[in-house]
Amino acid sequence: MEAMEEESLGPNGWTPDRCRPLDDKTFVITGATSGTGLEAARILLRKGARVVMLNRNAEKSAIVVDNLKKELGASVDVTSIEMDLARLASVRNAAAELLERAPRIDALICNAAIAQVPKRELTADGFESQFGVNHLGHFLLCGLLFERIAASEGRIVVVGSLAYKMGAKRIRFEDIHFSRDYSPWHAYNQSKLAQLMFAFELQRRVQASGKNVGVFACHPGASRTNLQSSFGMRDRILWGVLKWLIAQPAERGAWPAVMCATEEGLAPLALYGPTGRGEMVGPVGASQVDECALDRESAAKLWSLSEQLTRLSWGP
Ligand SMILES: NC(=O)c1ccc[n+]([C@@H]2O[C@H](COP(=O)([O-])OP(=O)(O)OC[C@H]3O[C@@H](n4cnc5c(N)ncnc54)[C@H](OP(=O)(O)O)[C@@H]3O)[C@@H](O)[C@H]2O)c1
Repeated sequence: MEAMEEESLGPNGWTPDRCRPLDDKTFVITGATSGTGLEAARILLRKGARVVMLNRNAEKSAIVVDNLKKELGASVDVTSIEMDLARLASVRNAAAELLERAPRIDALICNAAIAQVPKRELTADGFESQFGVNHLGHFLLCGLLFERIAASEGRIVVVGSLAYKMGAKRIRFEDIHFSRDYSPWHAYNQSKLAQLMFAFELQRRVQASGKNVGVFACHPGASRTNLQSSFGMRDRILWGVLKWLIAQPAERGAWPAVMCATEEGLAPLALYGPTGRGEMVGPVGASQVDECALDRESAAKLWSLSEQLTRLSWGP
């Protein structure tokens, strides 16, 4: 299947107006305390969906849930579960609680991330922090929830970044945790490339298995969010200014993820996001995927390594 034709979306690209009512549908979003995750939750709730947020900070989460109820009405079905992607034990606990609470999962949106962490840090399980949070934490979560999503004929949405095709454009299998030559950008690039390779490998595995799970990849372009909070001081100041010049509102950044979670007729091996200036802003549609994310050999190797590191063997 070809990536969704731009003509079928019209000159304005995908917008939430295309989204049908979502009563009785359950959406799970990681990292919904701010930015595109919070905006995706807001759009889905307005459409009548049930939203479960998986957030690392319980206090912030409670405030966000409270604010959404004040804004959209006390009856909106939004709850949260504490989950820190930097701790595999926390991911396991959150997945277990979610499976207790949610009899169906119509879409899991893997949105949470940290970016450009200035000095090399390790997660609780000893992984370079961006690879650990952005890729491995989500890999484990997807594996633990996969059967419930399959039983719901649901979707997995991977939120990537154009950073996947910047820098080395490869996975450093020889030193995946950057024990040498750590660079905040290169580590972020690798984590985002790993997420895309994972999405496309999962698509291939799902297709081979015949299971009815949609797996789609997207990115928010350049959006005004809190992502710079994990940056070093210099980049934080730089992006703090730049984002008002070149980026779009966070809500627009959420559209590709909501599109991937709800729209019919989407294709695999596509990356959905803004199609305007530099693919950072503008109408939402499909964009060309760089070859580096389509490297099947590296994707298979990454899958095995991810299984080993998260101690979960899974696959459709
Ligand atoms: N903004 C952009 O221009 C841009 C560009 C390309 C790609 N992206 C991608 O868009 C996605 C959303 O980011 P954003 O821009 O909306 O940034 P954001 O406002 O910083 O939101 C990131 C979310 O991830 C959560 N998070 C961070 N570490 C976590 C952990 N260990 N466990 C669980 N949750 C964690 C944050 O929680 P706290 O509130 O607790 O920090 C927050 O809710 C990310 O995948 C990012 O890579 C963004």
